[in-house]
Amino acid sequence: MKKIFIIGNWKCNPTSLSEAKNLFLSINKKIKKKRKIETVICPPFVYLYPLAQLNRGHKIVLGAQDTFFEEKGAFTGQVSAVMLKDLGCKYVIVGHSEKRAHGDNDEIINKKIHILLKENLTPILCIGETKEEREKKQTFEKIKYQIQEGLRKVAKKYLHKVIIAYEPIWAIGTNKPCPPESVLTISIFIRKTFSALFGLKKTDKIAILYGGSVNADNAKRYVEEARVNGLLIGSSSLKAEEFLKIIFSFY
Ligand code: PGA
Repeated sequence: MKKIFIIGNWKCNPTSLSEAKNLFLSINKKIKKKRKIETVICPPFVYLYPLAQLNRGHKIVLGAQDTFFEEKGAFTGQVSAVMLKDLGCKYVIVGHSEKRAHGDNDEIINKKIHILLKENLTPILCIGETKEEREKKQTFEKIKYQIQEGLRKVAKKYLHKVIIAYEPIWAIGTNKPCPPESVLTISIFIRKTFSALFGLKKTDKIAILYGGSVNADNAKRYVEEARVNGLLIGSSSLKAEEFLKIIFSFY
């Protein structure tokens, strides 16, 4: 049985710990632990510890939105993968377009992926094209490049540990989700790219997510029609009811 990943990316929200706790608890209270569904929440770093304390029944798995690529040392303002692991995080988003827009390039992203795999954390590598690239039909080229550079020198045995999140930039936070039929084409292309670049024979082990304006009405279609293994959800993960509806649609 293949797992379905429902991953909430809270981004830089909410603005107080009490709101974060309320949101987290209202989700934790209602969901059940299911073998088939991995419910992950990636809050801002500062909420990770307090939320871990509230995680009754460990029904929610905690993830982080980023990491630094060194373990420790004189790196003011950074949070390392070792620290995230110590707090109980299992997943870490890397290469989100909002981080790439603030300086994360493919080389930095690659370093982050290496340290995460070393620490036995699961990287969620975000890839996707801009509106302009889509119009110029450069989508395939762009995502192939991001996979190739992001996973440069990752040992073959670790490749299936990386989760790929296809997040077209034009679909993020715009209420204009990418149609499931396009996501299907891309998900097939991502698997083919893994075979072509890394010589993987079996690519069905690679988990692929879709993200970009996912809501309770369209969530299921991506898993059923685009055959992705789950969803990376921004704004709909900040509304408990909406997020719960998405989770329950897979029960
Ligand atoms: P969105 O964000 O669901 O608000 O479009 C998705 C993301 O950026 O991961």
